[in-house]
Amino acid sequence: MRLWLFRAPAYRQPRLQEWAMDAGRPVVPHGHLSGELMSKRLVIVGNGQMAELFCSNFTQSSDYEVAGFVVDREFIKGDGLLGLPLVPLDDIESRFPPGTFDAFVAIGPVRNNSVRAARFLELRRRGYRFANYVSPRAEVSPDASLGENVSIGHFCSVGPWARIGDNVLIGSMSSIGHHCQVHSHAFLPVHVVMAGSVVIGERAFVGTGTTIRDNVHIGEGSVIGAGATILGDVEPNTVYVAQGAKQLPMRADQARL
Ligand SMILES: CC(C)(COP(=O)(O)OP(=O)(O)OC[C@H]1O[C@@H](n2cnc3c(N)ncnc32)[C@H](O)[C@@H]1OP(=O)(O)O)[C@@H](O)C(=O)NCCC(=O)NCCS
Repeated sequence: MRLWLFRAPAYRQPRLQEWAMDAGRPVVPHGHLSGELMSKRLVIVGNGQMAELFCSNFTQSSDYEVAGFVVDREFIKGDGLLGLPLVPLDDIESRFPPGTFDAFVAIGPVRNNSVRAARFLELRRRGYRFANYVSPRAEVSPDASLGENVSIGHFCSVGPWARIGDNVLIGSMSSIGHHCQVHSHAFLPVHVVMAGSVVIGERAFVGTGTTIRDNVHIGEGSVIGAGATILGDVEPNTVYVAQGAKQLPMRADQARL
């Protein structure tokens, strides 16, 4: 097997160099891709925590090399992020041309996912292809289908015949049952559990720790608050929240643990 040395992304270089110096060994990143040359290049749309998260995910466990970030000009603060260039979105084609770079939109669910949706559609119009991030620790049925700019986090399970649209984020430890449909631009942050044949409408947001029973339809653009149990259909553009935890009239040291 040939062992290629490849350039670590800028933000990892100090750590790798320190590691190599400590160990007296050549600079070889550990964890993934030990036998391959990194060839696919990626530009991330966003400069917040989501962008940092996906920079790490793609770098640590995909064959993409993250080359830089783009964001609307008015949100540019400084000229870099994680040691990589941060460029105004207007300049994306000149700095990261679509034939050479794939894109990944890493923006949070602000304004009912409409900002994420708009950036995705704009980049598609400009001719970009999109990366998918599927954690190596996720289990995706070979009979499920995924759109573009899809993320499936660590320890997720996606069942047979599930259909995931474009620009859908499914956070860690979520379970998407068989025959579920998650339509484009939906956002399911962490630990969302969906039984079979659930339908999630476009741009819907399903909060952390939500459980949805089988055959339920969540309308487009709706918001489900963290920790909800959804047993029936949800109308489009509505908000559902669970009963929050209540405080008991006792001190913690009086609780029988
Ligand atoms: C539903 C949600 C979006 C509403 O947020 P918001 O617009 O800021 O609304 P507020 O937090 O002001 O809450 C409004 C009311 O609903 C209640 N409420 C909000 N979320 C709730 C929830 N998950 N469970 C129970 N009650 C909730 C609040 O207590 C408040 O009640 P009050 O008016 O009696 O005080 C938010 O609470 C939520 O659950 N977000 C998802 C969290 C999540 O999954 N994060 C992952 C992101 S990556």
